[in-house]
Amino acid sequence: MSLILAIESSCDETAAAVVKDGRCILSNVISSQIETHKKFGGVVPEVASRKHLEAINVVIAQAVEDAGVTLGDLDYIAVTYAPGLVGALLVGVSAAKALSLALGIPLIPVHHIRGHICANFIEHQSLQPPFVCLVASGGHSHIVHVKDYTDFEVLGQTRDDAAGEAFDKVARVLGLGYPGGPKIDALAKEGNENAVEFKKVKFPGDSLDFSFSGIKTAVINHYHNIEQKGEEPNKADIAASFQKSVCEVMIDHLLEAAERTGCTKIALAGGVACNSRLRAELEARCGSFSLYYPSPILCTDNAAMIGCSGYYEALASNFADLSLNAIPYLGIK
Ligand code: KG4
Ligand code: ZN
Repeated sequence: MSLILAIESSCDETAAAVVKDGRCILSNVISSQIETHKKFGGVVPEVASRKHLEAINVVIAQAVEDAGVTLGDLDYIAVTYAPGLVGALLVGVSAAKALSLALGIPLIPVHHIRGHICANFIEHQSLQPPFVCLVASGGHSHIVHVKDYTDFEVLGQTRDDAAGEAFDKVARVLGLGYPGGPKIDALAKEGNENAVEFKKVKFPGDSLDFSFSGIKTAVINHYHNIEQKGEEPNKADIAASFQKSVCEVMIDHLLEAAERTGCTKIALAGGVACNSRLRAELEARCGSFSLYYPSPILCTDNAAMIGCSGYYEALASNFADLSLNAIPYLGIK
């Protein structure tokens, strides 16, 4: 049996979890900073770092207590070291290094996107690679071929904004507040998704890359044009039409990636994978592909997914020493 204490602090959630044998969550504590950042309309990096500092020890102690274990029972410390806000990441990395040194147990560096993908292994206990996964969050939009637990190939990614970032920015223009994804998801249910046609971006050739900044600008222009005419924009129609366009392009690319790789399984991961329209349309369009996605609590940032990824990194002997540093930008490979 192996017990991993996992730590996640890459953005605005301070999280710690104890994971047994890779896929069994003994505890999963998340301290969200959303209320703090709401008043600024988005995450303020310096404020995030300070909030992580305040919360990290409390969250770790809670995770160990909830799991019904002691620090002495732990076998490994896993921590998100990349990518993310550097000051935020450093808080988790420093705590992990201190624990690894004090307890004399190995330190496992975990890539945040790999963690998001691994949330599927916790939710679906029998799921095994290979499969293709759409990872869509506030900072990333990737189509990934998950060849094995630690072997990933990026088949497509955003060339500008991430999908979640587009949701958040459109929500801000519509005056819905932060984070925008869940607000747009809810409002869109009251709107007509065919009211406005926001064009999907398709790059020439066989590229599976995304671009979401164009649609974000199109929504903003559409909204302001209506306002300038002295009319009242229908926010629900705009939210629904925007959401439809973004979801469709992500699904088109995911299904195309599955066809190309010959994978029979497809998965979703990351905060945007909570989106009800995305899930419903993919259920309807997935055909003979088996579809997997995590519960909402495992889609958004958490440390259980980092513990699961850390388990497979440890099996592959991917350990770090105390020189481990936070890396703000790092590809998934
Ligand atoms: O994975 P995550 O918690 O953090 C990052 O790694 O970025 O993702 C947060 C993102 C935010 O942009 C948020 O608006 C989006 O996920 N999100 C959603 C939904 N729930 C969260 N986007 C669309 N629909 C949702 N229901
Ligand atoms: Zn994330």
